[in-house]
Amino acid sequence: MLKGKFPLEKFKKIPTPFYYYDIELLRETLDTVKAEAGKYNYQVHYAIKANANPRILSIIADYGFGADCVSGGEIRAALDAGFPADKIVFAGVGKADWEINLGLDNDIFCFNVESAVELDILDELAREKNKVARVALRINPEVDARTHAKITTGMKENKFGINLSLLGSVLDQLSGLPNVKLIGIHSHIGSQITDISAFRGLAIRMNEIQEELDKRGITVEHVNFGGGLGIDYDHPNHMAIPPFDNYFAAFHKLLNVRPGQQVHFEPGRSLVAQCGNLISKVLYVKEGEVKKFAILDAGFTELIRPAMYDAYHRIENISNDEAVEVYDVVGPICESSDVFGKEIELNQAHRGDLLALRSAGAYGEVMASQYNCRQLPMAYYSDEL
Ligand code: LLP
Repeated sequence: MLKGKFPLEKFKKIPTPFYYYDIELLRETLDTVKAEAGKYNYQVHYAIKANANPRILSIIADYGFGADCVSGGEIRAALDAGFPADKIVFAGVGKADWEINLGLDNDIFCFNVESAVELDILDELAREKNKVARVALRINPEVDARTHAKITTGMKENKFGINLSLLGSVLDQLSGLPNVKLIGIHSHIGSQITDISAFRGLAIRMNEIQEELDKRGITVEHVNFGGGLGIDYDHPNHMAIPPFDNYFAAFHKLLNVRPGQQVHFEPGRSLVAQCGNLISKVLYVKEGEVKKFAILDAGFTELIRPAMYDAYHRIENISNDEAVEVYDVVGPICESSDVFGKEIELNQAHRGDLLALRSAGAYGEVMASQYNCRQLPMAYYSDEL
């Protein structure tokens, strides 16, 4: 069984559980994204929500990418990490006034607006500051992302975005709002999308939307396709870098780009998921009547994806190469949903063994909680250990 390469001796000195980031892999992934997006001059805004660890953010900022933020806190984190304000986009269905004001004060690149009421408020707040807010309309393209129900967003009557049928009235509304300027259209259909054809559907739908805009004599400066490219949770060692080539090529092939128009993306997971691992210790091996449980010192407080989305993360016993046995791998939290995986094959587990929960760099550390009065996990980096 091929395992990730981990500095086991160094790990033994660190209190568990902790996050471990493979910085070389992160850089390789970022190099690939930069090269593949660069082929078509596509602009990339990293979705901060996937991982807001300051070290990770500053590495991504150094590559010259922009940032996609969904809260005032994320705008601050992006600015602190060195993302330039003129490369920050601010999305979110419920932007509070202070968050909008923070964006206005910093002259961020664009507000991705999700409703007609939000446009009115944005216009009002911008007027108070004698500013003009640049906006992109987030449109529900009604394209099925064919992913987990809790992370699909592009269908009708979901809380995100403006329904296609309401686009005309929102465009009418815009002409009466002097303190907002339409510069883009935006969409995001969901996350962990591994079927590239969903993106093809999105590109085609955005062409249709642009044709509607043409009829009104509107040409926007940019078209933003959100994030969503999935990663291979089953094969983190073999498929460490997602297929950015196919992803961007799918848009390039189908999209009718207007002269001078820019194309933007907001990938989160695909940039950071594979470089992160949650390292945890086996506290007990408990023998049930039939099952064996490997009870870890990490729980859903450190990695909530299995409990919340039934997500699969590959689990490896990195302490030994003994014969494989089958375990339910569980955490210590007092809830029955605190299970990382059922009937998982692991090299025989012993008290004290270290386990790696792979592909945890996205929506892992950033979603950690202090439930049960637990401490937030520490993070360590391959180039600093
Ligand atoms: N842009 C917008 C507007 C988004 O809502 C999202 C993610 C992204 C970009 C980045 O998507 P990505 O490239 O990471 O798929 N916590 C869940 C995922 C939630 C995604 C929310 N929106 C999980 O652990 O699977």
